[in-house]
Amino acid sequence: MKVIITGASKGIGRGIATYLAMDGMETGLLARSASALEDVTQSIEEQGGACHAVPCDLRDPDATEQSVQEIVRLMGGVDALINNAGVVIRKDIFELTLEEWRAMVDTNINGVFYATRAVLPYMREQQAGRIINISSISGKLPLPGGSGYAASKFAVTGLSLSLFQELRDHGIIVSTVYPGSVDSASHRHEAEADPSWKVAPEDVGRLCRDILNTAPGTVLSEVEIRPLRRPPKA
Ligand SMILES: NC(=O)c1ccc[n+]([C@@H]2O[C@H](COP(=O)([O-])OP(=O)(O)OC[C@H]3O[C@@H](n4cnc5c(N)ncnc54)[C@H](OP(=O)(O)O)[C@@H]3O)[C@@H](O)[C@H]2O)c1
Repeated sequence: MKVIITGASKGIGRGIATYLAMDGMETGLLARSASALEDVTQSIEEQGGACHAVPCDLRDPDATEQSVQEIVRLMGGVDALINNAGVVIRKDIFELTLEEWRAMVDTNINGVFYATRAVLPYMREQQAGRIINISSISGKLPLPGGSGYAASKFAVTGLSLSLFQELRDHGIIVSTVYPGSVDSASHRHEAEADPSWKVAPEDVGRLCRDILNTAPGTVLSEVEIRPLRRPPKA
């Protein structure tokens, strides 16, 4: 299976790409940082996995279309897209700047829309494809102190659940994943010295593998993945 993963240069996206490549899938990585992508590619290839990477700023619709076309060319096709890239800024409405609000809207909402539009011609043509959108628990529950982030993730949820209905008759399966706390560097806060209670990024990769491998004609449409353990008491 040939899978494009956005935001694969670090965090959850890197974990997903690594897990899927180790599971035998051919992976196509998109993110802005060329050097970080190079690091992930090297690591996956050293472990025997198949991996291509194209630097891309998902806030730019034309650049996104070109990068998706390039990665599809490198992979020789595309079976699945995982929209993972996102910006997480947990500030309340008094603290959040306009620039930060726009960064989340541009990346978390527009970026998902642009990447999805870019793969759809291939999937529509082959009448088959799978799309996984990484929303968040904050895409279904209020997040006091992070209203802007929650708004962007509720938008991902609305887009994703609606696309499931729009695309199913074209043989394209859309799934929505709602992670709880995952141990990515950008989610490490100083008070949380030991993040080991959290979900590991590779565990989100394992979930994506399972979603991509459901029996033909079936779909895991919505899945929450949360840590079993609770955060340590302060
Ligand atoms: N960690 C959690 O606890 C958690 C929980 C629920 C949901 N999520 C969601 O999971 C996803 C990944 O989160 P994370 O914690 O792994 O974050 P992260 O470590 O900050 O990684 C974010 C990824 O997105 C990429 N990215 C950001 N802006 C981009 C842009 N304009 N164009 C292309 N790529 C861009 C980054 O790469 P570059 O900087 O190289 O572009 C990076 O690879 C996000 O959608 C987040 O909302 C995370």
